[in-house]
Amino acid sequence: MNFQINIQGLSKRFGDNVVLDGVDLQITSETITAVIGKSGTGKSVMLKLIAGILEKNSGTIECLKISESGESIPISIEEIGFSYMFQNNALFDSMTAFENVALPLVEGNNALPKLKVKEKVDHLLEQLDLVSSSDRYPGELSGGMNKRIAFARALITEPKVVLFDEPTTGLDPERKFTVFDMIKKYRKQFGFSALLVSHDIPDVYEIADSVAWLDKGKIQFFGKPENIDLISEVSIKEYLKTGRISSNHL
Ligand SMILES: Nc1ncnc2c1ncn2[C@@H]1O[C@H](COP(=O)(O)OP(=O)(O)OP(=O)(O)O)[C@@H](O)[C@H]1O
Ligand SMILES: [Mg+2]
Repeated sequence: MNFQINIQGLSKRFGDNVVLDGVDLQITSETITAVIGKSGTGKSVMLKLIAGILEKNSGTIECLKISESGESIPISIEEIGFSYMFQNNALFDSMTAFENVALPLVEGNNALPKLKVKEKVDHLLEQLDLVSSSDRYPGELSGGMNKRIAFARALITEPKVVLFDEPTTGLDPERKFTVFDMIKKYRKQFGFSALLVSHDIPDVYEIADSVAWLDKGKIQFFGKPENIDLISEVSIKEYLKTGRISSNHL
């Protein structure tokens, strides 16, 4: 399915705290956009607004399905099919790793038969090196293991749009690249698009088609990772290339 999500003038404040102040961003089919920016700049808030978990103050989030004849038909993000991986994982402590991952497949009207669920969940757990943790509870597992369980749960429904909030934070380098490789592979396999919040600069650029830098309430840079080199402001270029701030300007 070809689709577009057009975000325009998206604004959000909490009391006097203006977090987003006119975010413009477009998400198209089968693209991976790395969302970067300092801590507290509103990356998670932006994802929550797109997912409908928080309510915006102003602006628009328009989802369009593009038909084969090129016609744009308004649809909801639910109709496109999306999932959200929370920064804090949001796993259920009373459920095993298997049950957490299986949850989106067993709840609601479209519940799959038990055997099919087991096949799908086992396959994903295997890819993420989690088979031996399948029957354990989040409280018994490491931070990195829980991160990967949350990652598996976000992918299990084969969504067309995935909002990943820091899927690799706290993972060792090997697992970090496993997660990045899986995002890349699943993008091809399911044809999904991802908004991928990450502090893993520059590693995340290896799988990103575009980089969106959020700062001071707005997307200050949007473009291909290689186009960061074209930025004339040295301190900004340095920050976007390395993730490190070496000047007082930022
Ligand atoms: N539910 C809420 N109520 C009040 N303020 C909130 C709420 N959620 C977020 N904020 C505020 O919005 C701002 C942006 O928070 P957000 O979590 O989006 O940052 P972030 O860019 O994701 O940071 P990090 O990289 O540390 O995850 C912060 O000042 C935060 O305190
Ligand atoms: Mg965040």
